[in-house]
Amino acid sequence: MIDPSTTVSWSTLNELSSTIGPIRKLLDHDRAYLRLEAAGIHADFSRQRLDSTVLNELFNLVRETGVESLRDAMFRGEHINTTEDRPVLHTALRAPAGSSLVVDGTDVVGQVHEVLDQMARCAESIRSGEWKGATGKPIDHVVNIGIGGSDLGPAMAYIALGAYVDPHISCSFVSNVDPADVKSVLAHSDPETTLFIVASKTFTTTETMTNARMARSWILQRLSDYPVDQVVPRHFIALSTNGAAVEEFGIPDSNMFGFWDWVGGRYSMDSAIGLSTMIAIGPSNFSDLLAGFHAMDVHFHDAPLESNVPVLMGLAAIWNRNFLGIETTAVLPYSEYLSRFPAYLQQLTMESNGKRVRKDGNPVSYSTGAIYWGEPGTNGQHSFYQLLHQGTSMIDADIIVVARESQPETNSQQVLVANALAQASVLSVGVTAAELELQGTDSGLVAHKIMPGDRPVSMIMIQELTPRSLGALIALYEHSVFVQGAIWGINSFDQWGVELGKKVASGILGSFEKPEAVTQFDSATAYSMRQYLELRD
Ligand code: F6P
Repeated sequence: MIDPSTTVSWSTLNELSSTIGPIRKLLDHDRAYLRLEAAGIHADFSRQRLDSTVLNELFNLVRETGVESLRDAMFRGEHINTTEDRPVLHTALRAPAGSSLVVDGTDVVGQVHEVLDQMARCAESIRSGEWKGATGKPIDHVVNIGIGGSDLGPAMAYIALGAYVDPHISCSFVSNVDPADVKSVLAHSDPETTLFIVASKTFTTTETMTNARMARSWILQRLSDYPVDQVVPRHFIALSTNGAAVEEFGIPDSNMFGFWDWVGGRYSMDSAIGLSTMIAIGPSNFSDLLAGFHAMDVHFHDAPLESNVPVLMGLAAIWNRNFLGIETTAVLPYSEYLSRFPAYLQQLTMESNGKRVRKDGNPVSYSTGAIYWGEPGTNGQHSFYQLLHQGTSMIDADIIVVARESQPETNSQQVLVANALAQASVLSVGVTAAELELQGTDSGLVAHKIMPGDRPVSMIMIQELTPRSLGALIALYEHSVFVQGAIWGINSFDQWGVELGKKVASGILGSFEKPEAVTQFDSATAYSMRQYLELRD
């Protein structure tokens, strides 16, 4: 395994990081090579603190660490998820009908399209009113019960594609095991017209199964005049890879939409997990969403490094993280429709690249995944941007701009875009003491008003938020995450770090009613358990 920090390019990049000038200086030259377009996504990396020398060295790093061959291995279906010995094939989920990819003896694209067709039939019957609840009424409310990758993608897409959503069917999302979550959704649900989609790859996730059981009891109680075997099949659908657990829950096979262990949870919104999205926007718009993903996949696979948008995005992230020492990236969509996009990216980026050992099990000697977080602009401007501009932490930002509003009526969109561009400029260019003095700023305030700038910004612009452009945008981030993980030599497709907490939680749960068992935990946990029991009772 290649340790990236031992490569020639890594050493050269280290040297370059101490000589690279500030962004405002770099902007004196038109660095057109940092402005790229793919699948309708216009990415401008010219507000990054890098030049052609740095970029060429980053390309050398890509070559030295074998990113392209790992990429090709992923697309071919090789078992690049080494700790789970699985292929990583979310790209097959959006491969066009009629194409084929044989992996481990099976045509996975054929399988994908069988499920997509099954989903389309189901979505159409719900949308047309043909699917009836147990009392004979059509469905007008779909509740997706899932968490992590089985929630964030569909929940994000439902808002992002609001302009495409059928107004006759609303979708709600229940994820948290906090009973307040499911209760608040049930409170405005009509049992006769609500359909629950239990979305869980494993069908064992505590939160999802707890909420699904609550939903089942709720509906069975309210429709108690109807037999269980009439209510559950008319009001429950399962999206899972675990047929046995679905059957045990009581959901008939005909209501189960499958996928495969080669779809990671955080890469699953375009698998059966997207059923709520398909019901909301319709099968044809869902096909467009997949086409957008696919267009970016093709670009990532085929485009040379120099014009490859996910490669450049991933390299900018590597440069910022490993050579400029930036630990966190703010995702700032200037679109209310993308309000859940930062939350979606948190899982995609941090569950994928929050790793401390390389694939061979050796600890890394360099930083890996940055912390991703964010809020839509302009709201964030009136909240945390102060720290972005003048705080002591260096934070880079992805500013996402949608050029066209879906139903233009006012000039608010222009105001919004002007703000996005202004923030990109101020973050990266800033304002100096000399400039402030020239503007006649009160000398006592100059120090307070200096904006240091030099905060790297990637500007991502799309013409319109459509199913297709959303798919391309998500795939851009997926592949950027891939590029970073490949350079770091980590496994971006497992998530061992989330397992221990689940195990400990179930141990704690089992011990609440056995006070003598409390001693098996560390003293702080034992104290908190006693305190909780005391306060509860
Ligand atoms: O806890 C992490 C995780 O395994 C995620 O990777 C996954 O998206 C989520 O839980 C939900 O898992 P499932 O779809 O199996 O319920």
